[in-house]
Amino acid sequence: MVDGCAWRRPSVGSYPCQAAGQRSLQTGPVLGTLVMLALPAAGEGGGLPTATAPLRCQAARSLAHHGVPPGCPRQSRRWCRAAGGGAGGDGCGPLAHPRAAGQCPRVSVLHRHTAIDPWEVTMDLTDKVAVITGASRGLGAGLAGRFLERGLRVAACARHRPQLAGDEAKLLTQAADVTDAEAMEQLCAAAVSRFGRVDLWINNAGLLAPIGPLRENDPAQFALHIQVNVTGVFNGSRAFTRHVYERGGAGVLLNISSGAARNAYAGWSAYCAGKAAVERMSEAIALEEADSGVRVHAVAPGIIDTDMQSLIRSCTPEQFPRVQKFLDLKAKDAFSSPGFVADRMLELAFDPAAADTPVLTTLPLEHG
Ligand SMILES: NC(=O)c1ccc[n+]([C@@H]2O[C@H](COP(=O)([O-])OP(=O)(O)OC[C@H]3O[C@@H](n4cnc5c(N)ncnc54)[C@H](OP(=O)(O)O)[C@@H]3O)[C@@H](O)[C@H]2O)c1
Repeated sequence: MVDGCAWRRPSVGSYPCQAAGQRSLQTGPVLGTLVMLALPAAGEGGGLPTATAPLRCQAARSLAHHGVPPGCPRQSRRWCRAAGGGAGGDGCGPLAHPRAAGQCPRVSVLHRHTAIDPWEVTMDLTDKVAVITGASRGLGAGLAGRFLERGLRVAACARHRPQLAGDEAKLLTQAADVTDAEAMEQLCAAAVSRFGRVDLWINNAGLLAPIGPLRENDPAQFALHIQVNVTGVFNGSRAFTRHVYERGGAGVLLNISSGAARNAYAGWSAYCAGKAAVERMSEAIALEEADSGVRVHAVAPGIIDTDMQSLIRSCTPEQFPRVQKFLDLKAKDAFSSPGFVADRMLELAFDPAAADTPVLTTLPLEHG
């Protein structure tokens, strides 16, 4: 749950290498800057922007500062110049590839240049419809709540029917298990029947257990884990892509991933395997839907203080050797709030500047 590729300070973002044939990364840094600047802009004037007052945010025109690093085997990858001491008079330095040439990492780090030339974009959230799985608590409930505040219409599910406050005309809740493909089809159909369409589908439901050395894991618990964290994402993605394929037009699929998809953690073999599977699945769907209107991202959301984090902190070092790091995060209250994550996801889904963001995406941490 610590994203090894997370934005380590407010001016640093991370994006994956771009596989050949996938969308250009050109606007990745724009989104990166955008998300760093969005909060103050969104908060201006108090109150939350709604469908009638589109979310305002900012981005920097930094594309001129990008280039392909020498030796990078993925030539479609673009990099931003590192900040500081550059010849361009704008704080940009020479091209900075974080790893040696020829060792292009799958997940890379982009550095924002220091000279910001902000421009405003608006997101039209009018009548947008989002489906969120795993919304009875934790991040999913937070996403649903913020989306409702922003004026979206929301269909939310979990095994326990989500209890969410908000305009009932804009809210549909169901008790549905993501491991049940038919239940996901029915959730999608119910949302379409109620709201007319689905624009955004977020596969958020997930488990952490089994925790501890694999040799001590219960095979049945592992099988359930894969059923929820991988098959559940398959079921939701299938229902949504079929819907968009049939209706035509655009749709955004966000599959919640984790830094554990990209970095191994002792004690989390099931979780690492499942989230890595989600990322490869997301990349494959993105290729399959390249000519349809579906845009796909696997999103590492940062660290949010949910029941899952409580479970992590309750582990012994024998079960999870890095538990102290998570105890320290709690002591520092270094978490992103669900509302912050929700706004970044809205930007990713609906801000035109985010359209070319790579499939594997890491959100910034709220507190840097
Ligand atoms: N919290 C973090 O720091 C963090 C960091 C990186 C990634 N993530 C990811 O973010 C997502 C949400 O995590 P969280 O921290 O909010 O976890 P959480 O507090 O444990 O909540 C998990 C949610 O998933 C639902 N759920 C579990 N199994 C389900 C199933 N079979 N069908 C439908 N819903 C199911 C739960 O509701 P019911 O029990 O009612 O079904 C609950 O609403 C997960 O995918 C997690 O891996 C979290």
